[in-house]
Parts: sequence; C-alpha cells; structure tokens
Amino acid sequence: MKERLEQLKEEAISALNTVTSGQMLELLRVKYLGKKGELTAILKQMGSLPAEQRPTVGQIANRVRTIIDEAIAKKSSELEEMSMANRLESEALDVTIPGGEFQFGHRHPMTIVLDEAKDIFIGMGFDIAEGPEVELSYYDFDKLNIPITHPAREWTDTFYTTQDESVHLRCQTSPVQVRVMEKKRPPIRVISPGRVYRKDEVDASHSPMFHQIEGLVVDRGVTMGDLKGTLNLLVSRLYGENTKTRFRPHHFPFTEPSCEVDVQCVVCGGSGCRTCKQSGWIELLGAGVVHPKVLAGCGIDPDEYSGFAFGIGLERMTMLRYGIDDMRLLFENDMRFLNQF
Ligand code: DAH
Repeated sequence: MKERLEQLKEEAISALNTVTSGQMLELLRVKYLGKKGELTAILKQMGSLPAEQRPTVGQIANRVRTIIDEAIAKKSSELEEMSMANRLESEALDVTIPGGEFQFGHRHPMTIVLDEAKDIFIGMGFDIAEGPEVELSYYDFDKLNIPITHPAREWTDTFYTTQDESVHLRCQTSPVQVRVMEKKRPPIRVISPGRVYRKDEVDASHSPMFHQIEGLVVDRGVTMGDLKGTLNLLVSRLYGENTKTRFRPHHFPFTEPSCEVDVQCVVCGGSGCRTCKQSGWIELLGAGVVHPKVLAGCGIDPDEYSGFAFGIGLERMTMLRYGIDDMRLLFENDMRFLNQF
C-alpha cells in the first residue's frame, strides 16, 4: 500500500506538470483528492491492513495528500500569474504614443455671413424671430395680400403638402412678419432667417431650397428713407464702406411702394463681368413699405403706424461676400471648397 501511495504521488505530480488551464487542474484535483478520487480509494482499503501498520500508512497517506495539495496550489497560482501576464500584454495601452490628428470643423460660409448679419441687425436693435418651414397658405399667401390668382400659388411653383392647398413648404420667410405682428404691438424690429422652398431646377443661381433673412420694422412714422438707411448700413458693413447700392422699383403684393435692391458687383467693381451678367449690379433683396392691408389684417392701424420690410437671399449675400460664382458649391459639401473659409 505504501508503494501504491508513492506511485500515486509520482503520477499526480507528473500529471500536474502538464496542466495548462484551471479546468484541467480541477479535473486532476477531483481525480486524485476528490471524495471518489484515487487517494480515498486507497485509504478505504486501510481496514484490511494489520493494526500496527495503520499509523505509518496513515502518516504516509497524509503526507501524500499534503504534497499533492501543495502542488495543486502552486500550479493554481502559476496559472493565475500566467493569465494576468497575458492580459497585461494583450490589453497594454501605451499612453505615451502621440494621439491621432483630429480635424476640427468650422462654420459653413453661409453661417459665417448669417452670423455677421445677425450681429449687424442686433446692433441696430432688432430681435430674432422664427417661423415654421411647413407653413399655412393663410400666412404665406392670404395674409400677405397674395391673391389666389397669383402665379406663386400654382402647383408648379409651390410644394403643397395637402390637396386643398392649405399647407405648403413656405416659399418665402415673409409669413413670419404676419406671425410676429399678430402677437406683438409696435414698435417692432425683427429679422427672421430660415429655409424656403420653390419648385426651381438646380443651376448656378437656383435651388429648390434656399435661405432668406426676413426683416420687419413697424412704428410711428417709419418711411422708405428708414428702409434705405438700414439696408445701406447693412451693405456697407458686409461689403465695405464704399459699396454702392441701387434701389429699383418693383412689385410685391405685401409692400407699397416696393423695390429690389442691387449691390454693385464685387467681382468687377461695376464695369461688367460674367458674375453680374455684364450689368455691373447683383440683385440682393426685395423690400418695400408694408402694405396698409397687411398691417390692418394683423390688427395694426395703418393710419397710426407704418413699416418697412425686406427679404434678403442669404446665398446671394454669401456669394457676393466671397466672390462665389456658383450657388451649387454652397450645398455640395466639397471639402476642397469648404476648407477655404
Ligand atoms: N418675399 C420676397 C421674395 O421672396 C422678398 C421680400 C420682398 C420680402 C419685399 C419682404 C418685402 O419682406 O417687403 O422675393
């Protein structure tokens, strides 16, 4: 029995030497030291030994158990160390490696110009108002004195969202004027920038979606002179002190009188080039003195108050500012273009 115990010890130790995982180790522990293991099986036969041999064999059996136990514990801590070393190696993070280059974005050229325009208007005491892009025809047409027969109300011109033509993607920012006047009493001084939509084909100067900045001033004694002064100040701040403007008579249903405002071409300085189609001027906005019908429709007495309004094309404004000759560049997100600003 002594030999069997010695043999068991040798066998267990050499088996333990081949262990490479915690799972294998546990199997061996059960095999040798478990309740149904080999050591127990040998000990069960102790009863058949002569009484005087039992203490010695018992001692040997205990020693064998301790040796195997210790070998298992040693292996177990070796395995743990190994797995920790593996983890340390595989999860190593070198915090001294320089970081990857990070590309900072910047404002889109139209945002740059819009921010400048907002600053200029805020400096003149204007507030900023917002209105919905999906608009009621009531606000975009009816309340602006645009009759049902007006070409802008055709399906070919406007993106209606309902069959009955009561809702559409707004084709101008002017309905915000009405929304403001319904809520506020004069004095009113607001601008309202935003997107507008028209059924236009895309080309160098057209897009079915573009941006406008609406402006509205209502108070006692406001005149066309105030309109000219305000817009001339805007133009001189944006394009330089000596930039010339030209106010041309025009027609809008919601202003009387109405005008369009041109800026002297910044590319050729007025002598005529491709950008200004040889005219020396570039159209920037529509404007006028608010029609008495529009004021009255919003509950403002046209005998007491008057106002002026304008709608500036933000794309035009940006193109003029940077000498950009194709509007599509503003929407294509080509980094070679955008990185220039
Ligand atoms: N809404 C006009 C357009 O889209 C521009 C405009 C003209 C706006 C005169 C106004 C205005 O507020 O008074 O062409």
